[in-house]
Amino acid sequence: MSSQIEQYLADPFLADLYQEIRVAGPLRSAQVDITHACNIRCQGCYFFAEDLDRFKAPKDESVFDAFIEREKARGTNYMTVVGGEPSLMLDRLKKIYDNFWLVVVTNGLRKIPYEGFENLPIAVSVWGDHKTDTNLRGNGKLDVFARGLKNYKDDSRVAWYYTTTPGNVHEIESVVEQCVANGNYVGFNFYGDISQAGGSLDHRRGFGPVCDEINRMIEHYPDRILLSSYVAQVVATGNLYGDKWGHESCCTLTVDHPKNQERLKNGRPYNTHFRVYNPDLKTIRRCCAGDDRDCANCFECWAHFSWIILNLERHLGSKQEFTNWLTTMYLFYLSNRIIDFDKGVKNVPEIHRRLSCLRTPHVDTPPTRLEAAELEDLVSESL
Ligand SMILES: C[S@@+](CC[C@H](N)C(=O)[O-])C[C@H]1O[C@@H](n2cnc3c(N)ncnc32)[C@H](O)[C@@H]1O
Repeated sequence: MSSQIEQYLADPFLADLYQEIRVAGPLRSAQVDITHACNIRCQGCYFFAEDLDRFKAPKDESVFDAFIEREKARGTNYMTVVGGEPSLMLDRLKKIYDNFWLVVVTNGLRKIPYEGFENLPIAVSVWGDHKTDTNLRGNGKLDVFARGLKNYKDDSRVAWYYTTTPGNVHEIESVVEQCVANGNYVGFNFYGDISQAGGSLDHRRGFGPVCDEINRMIEHYPDRILLSSYVAQVVATGNLYGDKWGHESCCTLTVDHPKNQERLKNGRPYNTHFRVYNPDLKTIRRCCAGDDRDCANCFECWAHFSWIILNLERHLGSKQEFTNWLTTMYLFYLSNRIIDFDKGVKNVPEIHRRLSCLRTPHVDTPPTRLEAAELEDLVSESL
């Protein structure tokens, strides 16, 4: 252990967080879409925008079983399970649950039963308050958020995965209130407007005000919000110690995909085990969000967590910076229930308290992700 880390760990709170992570051990992670099918079509969903449903999930159960065995043999111990809609494939979800640490991301329409999935971390997606969410995810008719609330009432396995949009900041408080009153936890994600709908969905407006509101929610519900001010700031600005978010810096890239080979030689850190499997379980893709996804509109929270986590060395300059890093790592392990959730969640208010110095309101929406040309477009469009 470096002498700086040793010095920072003289603080008993930080030492406890560090110790819990150390005992759990390192993660060797992969991502899998367990089905190509989904029961809704969300506006601008990357999965359908990239035609990832063309890779059909195998019908033969033995193909799925062989996939599980291959991943175990490869040493994978953690999986992000997405799709398509994973709740449509409960038998396969159960097999992953029985063999790996995992998180499952679901739209919440079909309840994942408690029995057999008692300690499953469930990230239930929501994209805004009822009207906005119905428009964006329910084809203007189905109140997907209401169904999720009903299905997961008082279900402590659930942390809502709230995809926020720049023009709907005013909805954040109400959505968070409802999730908390429902007995659940809350995390955040940021919408990438890949279908170029514009207006309130346009990520090019920046997420500064969104971050301010997330910070306000942290002050209100410090025991319920599982995303830190630090992670929100890194996702929103796309900036980590002067490095700009993009393919050249992203750390969660499929290691044996041809499109990543140059990047993996550039000296920046990356997850050396990571692979993303398409629903056919045979083909792999460049990254979580597709083969050709423009990184300028990727605000994928899990990928940004990894970006921070794998850049430990940059966070050693001061105790505050190390705290920013360690709490990111801890919240990742906690949200994914790799460490004891009931015990660990009691640390969350103190984690937020330790990051309170980051919660200064933004002065102006920082257009750090905008290229100059894009900025000119945006300005001329709004004139
Ligand atoms: C493709 S979905 C699959 C899992 C599940 N069907 C669901 O809706 O949660 C995985 C996650 O990606 C998010 N997502 C999809 N398109 C997005 C976009 N353009 N910007 C930000 N998040 C997006 C969804 O909200 C969801 O949380």
